Parts: sequence; C-alpha cells; structure tokens
Amino acid sequence: MTQHVIYPGTFDPITLGHINIIKRALTLFDKVTIAIANSTSKRPMFDIDQRVELVQRAVHDYKNITVKAFDSLLVEFAKQQKCNIILRGIRGVDDLEYEKQLALMNKKLAKNIETVFILPDIEFQHISSSLVKDIALHQGDVSKFVPKNVCAALKITSGNA
Ligand code: COA
Repeated sequence: MTQHVIYPGTFDPITLGHINIIKRALTLFDKVTIAIANSTSKRPMFDIDQRVELVQRAVHDYKNITVKAFDSLLVEFAKQQKCNIILRGIRGVDDLEYEKQLALMNKKLAKNIETVFILPDIEFQHISSSLVKDIALHQGDVSKFVPKNVCAALKITSGNA
C-alpha cells in the first residue's frame, strides 16, 4: 500500500525548516503532497500563485512530491486527495498547544484522518516564516534560513534587490 501524507501550511514563504520536514517525510512516506493554504485572513506577503511557485522551485530536485493549493477545510482537501494522514512540524513547546488543538479539531471533523508530527532538526527549530519576513523587510540577510529562490524573491518583495 502506498503511504501518502499531506503536509499543509501557509508557506509564506517556505523555509529551510519546512524543507527539513519534507526531506524527513520522504524517508517515511512514499508520496508527499505539500498543500498550500490560501490563508487570506493571515494577509500573506506572497499570493497563493507565488507561494506555489516558490515551493515548486524549492523542491524540484526531490521525487515523489506534489505541490497543490487549497482553499477549503484541510480535511476536505485530504479526502479529495484520498489521503488520511496529515503531517505537521513541531518546533518546540510554543507550537505544541496550537498543533494539539488543530489535530484534535481535524479529528472531530474527520475521524479517519490522523495527524503525525515531526520535530525539525535542532538547527532549524528557530526558523519561522514571520521572523524571516521581518528580517527581509529590515534588509537583513535571510540566506541561512530559506532556499535560494525564496531569498531572491524576499529581496525583490522587500525592496532589497
Ligand atoms: N495572522 C497573520 N499571520 C499569522 C497568523 C495570524 N492570525 N497566525 C499565524 N500566522 C502566520 C505566521 O507567520 C506563521 O508562520 P511562522 O510560525 O512560521 O512564523 C504562519 O502564519 C503559519 O501559521 P500556522 O497557523 O502555525 O500554520 P500554517 O498557516 O502553516 O498552517 C493550516 C495552518 C493551513 C494547516 C490551517 O490553518 C488549516 O488547516 N487551514 C485550512 C482551513 C481549515 O481546515 N481550518 C480548520 C482547521 S481545524
């Protein structure tokens, strides 16, 4: 049986922390679908098409990955994809409570869908999309935190090109 996992998020933008989770997921699952939530209420820096393109370019060297946008409930998207496993990263205790709530709520919405968690490797646990955007907006160097294509996009978007 092919083990398929959905890795959802806003990915505004994708970071090396997300890439670490994706690489680790590829050692555990046959297929990974990166599901990019529209998340308009979070007022993302990059629109959904830009985020899809940034993720596609960042993972184009890896096999068995599909990148898709969604604008529905996550569990509905998972059902459409015929997938019953959701993957989330937990960077530390700050993430834990929110992730617990999300996983339990998703379980209430669809009882056959399981959430699994991966801890990013320690050198990635401090990386967050919001901090990366803040550093870029203040003309700081984000090359240690994001893939090369994202670094270039952040420079253009934050007027630092
Ligand atoms: N306003 C603006 N930005 C916000 C925010 C807010 N209220 N809350 C979080 N963010 C930003 C932060 O930059 C954060 O990134 P960072 O922690 O790396 O800095 C980023 O959004 C991620 O937020 P988070 O909510 O932790 O996760 P996510 O956006 O990556 O993923 C989804 C959450 C997409 C999985 C979840 O919202 C989802 O499933 N949405 C689909 C709709 C759905 O099913 N909802 C019901 C869930 S029970």
